[in-house]
Amino acid sequence: MRTPFVAGNWKMNTTVAQASVLVREMKERLDRIEGVEKVLCPPFISLTVIGELLRGTSIKVGAQNMYFEEKGAYTGEVSPQMLSELCDFVILGHSERRQYFGETDEVVNKKVGAALKSGLSPILCVGERLEEKEAGNTDEVVTRQVRAALRGIESPQGLVIAYEPIWAIGTGRAATPHESNDTIGLLRRTVAQLYGKDFAHGVRILYGGSVTASNIAGFMEQPEIDGALVGGASLQAEEFLSIVERSAAVKKAK
Ligand code: PGA
Repeated sequence: MRTPFVAGNWKMNTTVAQASVLVREMKERLDRIEGVEKVLCPPFISLTVIGELLRGTSIKVGAQNMYFEEKGAYTGEVSPQMLSELCDFVILGHSERRQYFGETDEVVNKKVGAALKSGLSPILCVGERLEEKEAGNTDEVVTRQVRAALRGIESPQGLVIAYEPIWAIGTGRAATPHESNDTIGLLRRTVAQLYGKDFAHGVRILYGGSVTASNIAGFMEQPEIDGALVGGASLQAEEFLSIVERSAAVKKAK
């Protein structure tokens, strides 16, 4: 049995003060929700404060990006070592990183390797663009992304994968649970080809893209979908709490 997983990706939102307010608003209720791994991914500058606010709770912290080098003359970058003091997870290969910051599969691969080496669990994001979906290339695109991101990596312990169709991110147009389940099943088979069935069976694979409290149950009901990576809706305490509560309820009922 895989423990369901729900992460909030705050993206480039919240000042340190706003991040603290948001965490205080949801902390107690979120902490009490059982049976789901809960992760908050604020901007870098808030990781320390949020980590302190969440100490002693069941809520974990993740970063949204990092560089792959350990240290050195890389002005403006943050290393895996720096993050491993502050959090357990790091989102890597998010489509916004690929699209606006030129991250290639090779860069994502280096980042995944570096994160694992530092004891961070990568939340590896993959997903197809609208044109790729319309051309019927979703399967090929996402399997290629997963294979490229994991190339040369022997044993990605703690790996989490997020399937996020780019056309569904921030658009209010989520993929259907059924379609996402099929794609996620394919990703699990891809992981099985690389690392064996047992390993693949234990890997959490999430859906992401316009997840809300009203559509989360449909995703969680699917056998292959282990949770969600939530963007916009994770910035509203009440909405995010409902998403996590509903996730827990659906998986419990199964
Ligand atoms: P969204 O973003 O929930 O706002 O669509 C999801 C993500 O990009 O991780």
